[in-house]
Amino acid sequence: MFIITCLVNDETQPGSGLRAEHGLSFFIQTDEKRLLFDTGPNGRVLLYNATKLGLDLRGVSDAVLSHSHPDHTGGLRTALSLARGCKLFAHPAIFQERFRRRRWWRPKYVGLPLSQREIEECAELKLSSQPVEVAPQVWTTGEVAPRPAAEGRSARHLIHTPRGWAPDPYADDMALVFDTSRGLVVVLGCGHAGLLNTLACARRTFGGRIQAVLGGAHLLDLGEEEIDHIISILREGYGSPRLYLNHCTGDRALSLLSQAFPDQTVPYLAGTSIEFLDDRRE
Ligand SMILES: [Fe+2]
Ligand SMILES: [Fe+2]
Repeated sequence: MFIITCLVNDETQPGSGLRAEHGLSFFIQTDEKRLLFDTGPNGRVLLYNATKLGLDLRGVSDAVLSHSHPDHTGGLRTALSLARGCKLFAHPAIFQERFRRRRWWRPKYVGLPLSQREIEECAELKLSSQPVEVAPQVWTTGEVAPRPAAEGRSARHLIHTPRGWAPDPYADDMALVFDTSRGLVVVLGCGHAGLLNTLACARRTFGGRIQAVLGGAHLLDLGEEEIDHIISILREGYGSPRLYLNHCTGDRALSLLSQAFPDQTVPYLAGTSIEFLDDRRE
C-alpha cells in the first residue's frame, strides 16, 4: 500500500488548520519506508503542517527533489536537519544556477538554497539523470526526454550562459512513479518538463497504464485550445487517468479538466491523503 499525503500546497483542506503556501511537498508512506517528495517553500510551513498531521519528518529515510525552484526546495534545510543521514535523490542539473526574470530588477536567483557541500554534510546525495528506485516500486523518472510538447515552461525562467540569458531547459525536472499492479501513479513537482512529455516518459520506461497523476502540472499559461488538446490526449491516449492536480496547475486548467473528467478529477489540497493499493502486496 502507498499513502501519499499532500503536506504543503497553495491551498489547504478547509478546517484543517494547516498553513497554505505557494509550493509543494508530499509525505509518502510505503510498507517499507517514509519518503518526502519536495519540501515546500520554507521549513516553518513544512514542519508546522507535518506536526499538525502527525507525520514525523525524522522518520524520513529517502527524499526526492523534483527540481530546484525554491517553492519546492525552500524547506530543504529543515527537512535534512530532521531526517539527518537520509538519502536525497535529484537530477545532477539541480545545481545549475537558475533565475526568474523581473520587470525592473536583475533576474532573481531561484536555484537550490543549499550548496552541494552543505547537503552532503547532512544527507547521502544521489544524483542521477537515469531512473532510480527510491523504495520498492517507487522510482524517479530520470531525465524526461524527449519533450515534444511545449507545456510546463515559463518565459520568465532563465539560466545564465556565456552568451547571456537563455530560457531554462529545466533539465533537472523529474517526476516520481509508483509502479503498482493497478497501473502507474505519476507524481509531478511543477511539471516543467511538460505533463504529456512526463506521462509518455513514464509509460515508455515502466510500461502499463497510468492510473493517476498527482501534483503541479504548470498549465497556468495555457489557453483553452491547448488545454483541450491535453484533455483529448489524456482521454484517447491514456484512458482518462484519475487527476489529483494542484499547486501550479492553474484555475482555468483545473476547471476545464474537471468538466472533461468529472468523476476522475479530485481536488488535492494540503491535508489530503490518497491511498493506492497493490494487489501483489495485499
Ligand atoms: Fe518550478
Ligand atoms: Fe512549483
